[in-house]
Amino acid sequence: MTYAPFDLTGKVALVTGGNRGIGYGMAEALAASNASVAIWGRKEAANTEAVEALSKLGAGDVQAWTVDVADEQVVVDATADVVAKMGRIDTCIANAGVGFGAPSFVEMTTETWRKNMAVNLDGAFWTLRESVKHMTERAKAGDPGGSVVGVASLAGIEGAARNQAYAATKGGLPSMIRGIAVECGRYGIRANSILPGWIATDMTSMAQDSDVFSSKVITRVPIRRWGEPKDFGGMAVYLASDASLYTSGTTMIIDGGYAVF
Ligand SMILES: NC(=O)c1ccc[n+]([C@@H]2O[C@H](COP(=O)([O-])OP(=O)(O)OC[C@H]3O[C@@H](n4cnc5c(N)ncnc54)[C@H](OP(=O)(O)O)[C@@H]3O)[C@@H](O)[C@H]2O)c1
Repeated sequence: MTYAPFDLTGKVALVTGGNRGIGYGMAEALAASNASVAIWGRKEAANTEAVEALSKLGAGDVQAWTVDVADEQVVVDATADVVAKMGRIDTCIANAGVGFGAPSFVEMTTETWRKNMAVNLDGAFWTLRESVKHMTERAKAGDPGGSVVGVASLAGIEGAARNQAYAATKGGLPSMIRGIAVECGRYGIRANSILPGWIATDMTSMAQDSDVFSSKVITRVPIRRWGEPKDFGGMAVYLASDASLYTSGTTMIIDGGYAVF
């Protein structure tokens, strides 16, 4: 008997923010494991480039949608279109995110607060709701199952100076995910969060350029380096696979050990 749950042939995964960064790292592993992959992002050129690269990796179909997750109707329409064009959604990874900070907490504007909320919580809410709607309808028609994932952040459980709005969104997302896990398990739907630590992407470019940051923060990472998008591939494949059929309501920290040091 062979054990091969990580071959995702026949499964369809949607990754928001899948054209670069952590989302791309997950999309890459999913595509290489033969899943069909749908990616969403606002930038058409980045989407096209990602589809070209991802299409070369596995046996599944890869398509992109130009989607701003902060627009409810766009999310509703795009989800329906993914199902129409790719047949189904087995895994939905709400990864698209932004990080707007402020010089200090007392100088944080309502506009900054709302810009974080619009993408990281409103967008994740609409993305997850629409995919879960599809999954529950499918379950009621006799085809249960599905995996939804929220990409939150260590910032959601640790103090994030000058980034309280961002941190609040990342504290809220796992709460939403746990509620989905409790309510939708009866349909075979599992819901989990991923909490990245310090990962080298466009979002952290300023910190990557800072010697002070490297010497004070990255030296405290037990694995002794920045995380990379590809460090998220294994978890994405696991959560999309039948190996995780009994894994629900968890928060998976991927931070090179930073949180425990
Ligand atoms: N990097 C880290 O250290 C770190 C740590 C903890 C958590 N995270 C979380 O991990 C996730 C990915 O972050 P990252 O570091 O990979 O960031 P990134 O390199 O800046 O990439 C962000 C991705 O999200 C997409 N995106 C942003 N706003 C969007 C919107 N309104 N609608 C649709 N797509 C949108 C971007 O595509 P377009 O620009 O084309 O829209 C891009 O694909 C985020 O949720 C972030 O908060 C990151």
